[in-house]
Amino acid sequence: MHTIVAKAQLSPNVTRLDVSAPRIAQIRKAGQFVIVRRGEGAERIPLTIADSDAAAGTISLVIQAVGKSTKELVALAVGDSIKDIAGPLGHPTELIEKGHAVCVGGGVGTAVVHPIAQALSKIGVHVTSVIGGRSKEWVIYEPELRNIGDVVVCTDDGSYGRKGFVTQATEDLLKAGGVDIVYAVGPVMMMKALAELTRPYGVKTIVSLNPLMVDGTGMCGGCRVSVDGKAYFACVDGPEFDGHLVDFGQLADRGTTYREFEQEAAKRCADGDCRIGLSNKG
Ligand code: NAD
Ligand code: FES
Repeated sequence: MHTIVAKAQLSPNVTRLDVSAPRIAQIRKAGQFVIVRRGEGAERIPLTIADSDAAAGTISLVIQAVGKSTKELVALAVGDSIKDIAGPLGHPTELIEKGHAVCVGGGVGTAVVHPIAQALSKIGVHVTSVIGGRSKEWVIYEPELRNIGDVVVCTDDGSYGRKGFVTQATEDLLKAGGVDIVYAVGPVMMMKALAELTRPYGVKTIVSLNPLMVDGTGMCGGCRVSVDGKAYFACVDGPEFDGHLVDFGQLADRGTTYREFEQEAAKRCADGDCRIGLSNKG
């Protein structure tokens, strides 16, 4: 059992839970994730490790409450426990060793970008984070990223920082030159737009994919993605891939494939039948 030691509301539907998981806290690396099962028979939810404290033996999980299972997870309080946390899963982020990295986080994806920016900064890479939300209250991880490097905040409605999408602010950085790599995490359409933006500049762009996942072990095939025309499983081959080679159209299509199933599962679960369902890495 993993005890929840702290809880914070980061935006209207995004919550951070700091959870006891000493072994994972010690060995996890940027870019890796865990699969969480709240209790017996509960859905398995893939979640990025947004941060960790090896000395305290805790990891930070950031959860966007979108369906029944995630809503139940964020309803847990400090002192409550999570039954299983499997991980760390996936390959660690491929880090550049020097230069200037731009880390782009869209909405809840900013929590995924945070450990990448943290790891880059630790080895001396200059980090500029470009983070965006619909409006001010949806912007997350700004103070933590300001401790690491430069930060450009964007909001769709202009209520805070610069008005517009993260893509527009990233384009200005690319035009200014000196960007060695872009790491981008957020909605599929954001990552697609960023990959198209960086392509003519020849700037390598790493994206973290969040297809549907079930087992997280490469066995079920649920998280299949197409990269450079070949099939990969995001859980064991990723979750990060070269954004210039990802088939974002297929990713978006597969993301909606199970929507009816998920809605039905949520309804069934509300009626008391909570069998294992499918979920996206968050
Ligand atoms: P959102 O829809 O509020 O968008 C957040 C920001 O992303 C916007 O403010 C904007 O700056 C940018 N953005 C969105 N659409 C864009 C577009 N078409 N072009 C350019 N920029 C765009 O995001 P949210 O509701 O916080 O995030 C939810 C999405 O993030 C879900 O689709 C979820 O699956 C995805 N997500 C991905 C990962 C991952 O590992 N890739 C992790 C968590 C969540
Ligand atoms: Fe089953 Fe990746 S989640 S193969």
